[in-house]
Formats: sequence, C-alpha cells, structure tokens
Amino acid sequence: MDDDALARRAATPLRTRWLARPLRYVSETGSTNDDVRSEAARGAPHGFAVVADAQSAGRGRRGRVWHSPRGESVYFSLLLRPALLAQDRVGLLALAAGLAVAEAVGRWVPRATVKWPNDVRIDGRKVAGVLVEGVARVHGPAHYVVGIGLNVNGGDFPVEIAQTATSLRRVLGAPLDRGAVLTELCACLERRLDAVLQGDEGALAALIDSLRARCDTLGTRVRIEGVVGLAVDLEPDGALRVARDDGSVERVRSGEVIAANA
Ligand code: BTN
Repeated sequence: MDDDALARRAATPLRTRWLARPLRYVSETGSTNDDVRSEAARGAPHGFAVVADAQSAGRGRRGRVWHSPRGESVYFSLLLRPALLAQDRVGLLALAAGLAVAEAVGRWVPRATVKWPNDVRIDGRKVAGVLVEGVARVHGPAHYVVGIGLNVNGGDFPVEIAQTATSLRRVLGAPLDRGAVLTELCACLERRLDAVLQGDEGALAALIDSLRARCDTLGTRVRIEGVVGLAVDLEPDGALRVARDDGSVERVRSGEVIAANA
C-alpha cells in the first residue's frame, strides 16, 4: 500500500467511539509522540492521534532509535487524558496497549505473542513496540502519550536488529494494506484501553487473562531488574511474578526481560 492509501485511511472514519478522533495524518515528522505531546499542550482532546508515513527521529524505550522508513509501517501516537487514573493503574496502560497491538496483529497472524511487558512478537521476533510517555501537570491530571510502531511491509532492518526484528510482510510473504492494519489497531486499542480507563474490574481481569494467554515470557527463565528466575505468572495488576531458584518469589513491575539461560 502506498503513502496516499495510508492518508486516505487516516481521513476515513474508524470503528472507534473516541480513539483517533480526530486522527491526523502526516507524511513525515520527527516523532509522532512529540507531535501528540505538543498538540496536547495546545489543548488537543482525549483520543487525538497522529499517524505518520515516516519518522526522522522515531524513538523506542530506553532511549533506543525506532527504525522508521517511509511507506512501510505504521507509526502511531495517541493522547490519553484520563479524568482519574490511580498511579498503580498507569502501568496497565502500556500492558493494555501491547495486548491490543498483539490482538490486531493476530487478525493476520494469530500466533502473535507479547514479550512482557509490551513487545509484540511473531516466532520470537519483534514486530511492534509500545512507548508510553506521561506528561505531568501542575494543574489538572497528568496525560499520557501512547506511541506504537508496527512493522507492516518493511523487511530490510538495520544490522543491529536484523536478527531480532520482523514485519507482517516477511511473515505472510505478501504486503498488507496499512490502512486496514491501522483500522484494526485502533479498534483493538480502544477496547483494551477502555478497560483500564473505566477501571471495570471484570474487564481488567479479562485483560490480564488474555495477556497471560499471549505472554511468551511465562514459563521461561528470565533476568530482569536484577532478578533471575522462572517467570511463573502475571499478577492482577500486570506485574510479572518471578520465582527464584531459592524458592522466593519477586513481583517485577517494570523493566526489560532478558532471557536467562543459566
Ligand atoms: C519500543 O522500544 O519497543 C517502543 C517503540 C515505539 C515506537 C513508536 S513509533 C510511533 C511513536 N513515535 C515514536 O517516536 N515512538 C513511537
């Protein structure tokens, strides 16, 4: 699908009530997270989103670069202005977004998994990532920018990630309509983010159950934030439960999982 088709989709109503309403399409930008952040400072509403065809300064978690070539993928950022979100629920936003991306990808590749907390993978290779950035405010509640990079039709990755990244086209052997991917992504995101924003206990429990079912970290030996052991389960708040060899159990709330083979 070409650049224009992504733009056309961005101008088309999505299957959402509030998410990506409005949705702004930009041909090229530095980072869609920065665009949403600056529009938020100018008063953009809850649900405002930006999708770009290329980013010159796309960024990932932990200060990494997000490879963002033109015309290949979906670079999408969303503004959330929750009226009230308890501090201990903020981490759930990133988990919900990761699950939603995996579910959207799952429409084409049902075996898509989540590496805790929110990398989306196919056959162990990363196909999408989520970057949630909070913007603290002196007056009024904080707001959040949820950024998603999803490798759709690319395939030539920089050498640093050539062995660990993949795209939907690579897996399927044929290109996909990025507009259709974006539509699916927005619908899945709205459903899972609603569970967190509305704080509905049943929907939150369902979210954790679905994440548990997709989480490829569970049952593996991990090293995370100085803790080494077996990732055994997810807690109701999304924390990773890790059992150390000495039998003690640690709840890990954030961090990057590294496979531990020792
Ligand atoms: C990760 O490290 O896995 C998160 C990657 C997030 C990349 C997306 S692309 C759209 C948005 N704009 C950015 O600069 N980053 C996010």
